[in-house]
Amino acid sequence: MHKVKGISLAALLLALTISPLAMASSGGPALEAADNDMSNIPSLQRGARNFMNYCSGCHSAQYVRFNSMGKDLEFSDKQLVDNLMFNAEKTYETIRSNMPADQSKVWFGVTPPDLSLMARSRGSDYIYNFLRGFYADASRPTGVNNTVLVGTSMPHVLGGLQGLQRAVFHESSHEGQAATTEFQGFEMITAGTMSAEEYDNFVRDTVNFLDYISEPVQMKRRVIGVWTLIFLTLFLIVAYMLKKEIWKDVT
Ligand code: HEC
Repeated sequence: MHKVKGISLAALLLALTISPLAMASSGGPALEAADNDMSNIPSLQRGARNFMNYCSGCHSAQYVRFNSMGKDLEFSDKQLVDNLMFNAEKTYETIRSNMPADQSKVWFGVTPPDLSLMARSRGSDYIYNFLRGFYADASRPTGVNNTVLVGTSMPHVLGGLQGLQRAVFHESSHEGQAATTEFQGFEMITAGTMSAEEYDNFVRDTVNFLDYISEPVQMKRRVIGVWTLIFLTLFLIVAYMLKKEIWKDVT
């Protein structure tokens, strides 16, 4: 009986470890790594600015309070009020979107999702590639499609910065099999105000911010982890010295 339980537990654990891997590898072009660094405060500050300027018009981040974000990201209250709080009066308020949900549903067919936990549910690599994956597609109402979220109803709101690109697909048909289209890469049609590298950095900062808001305590947790290790090391030395002192006369 115990053995059976043990085996099914092992199978369950194995399934839990394998399933995220299987999910990550299904469909779409391979995701490039976002390589964002949450200990980089200036990057997080730029990300907050990008988010408030380019995303909060449609997306809320309802679990984020301006004052706690300000503390973590080292913004003064004045900086918060002057530069980031377009739609809020008090620093204890949360980030709301400027667009009423019922209206956005009419405009886009779907309500733009709240982005508080998006980096945790989709992963930062996903968002990094999504924001770099818009390409011209005249058949879509927004004029663009996306390699990561095919048929998305989000317009290319960063098009002025990135420019407009075309996606190149390769059609391959093997005898006896259905034809497949494979994504090859992008070609720029009209340039934006940023170079490709500047745009990547802009998106990386934005993703870094989304990663931070999806779990703000992870910054503190890392700091606490380091201090815990330092404490344990010092304690070990003290304990060793104490042991020597106590056993000195016995041995
Ligand atoms: C003009 C309104 C608008 C703006 C501005 C906007 N979005 Fe969106 N966004 C949408 C809509 C609509 C959707 C839903 C898309 C869908 O489900 O096809 C969406 C969906 C998303 C998603 C979810 C994708 C998924 O897989 O479900 C992410 C992530 C996202 N937006 C990030 C951003 C970021 C980051 C910004 C700022 C740089 C931004 N959005 C600005 C309208 C907007």
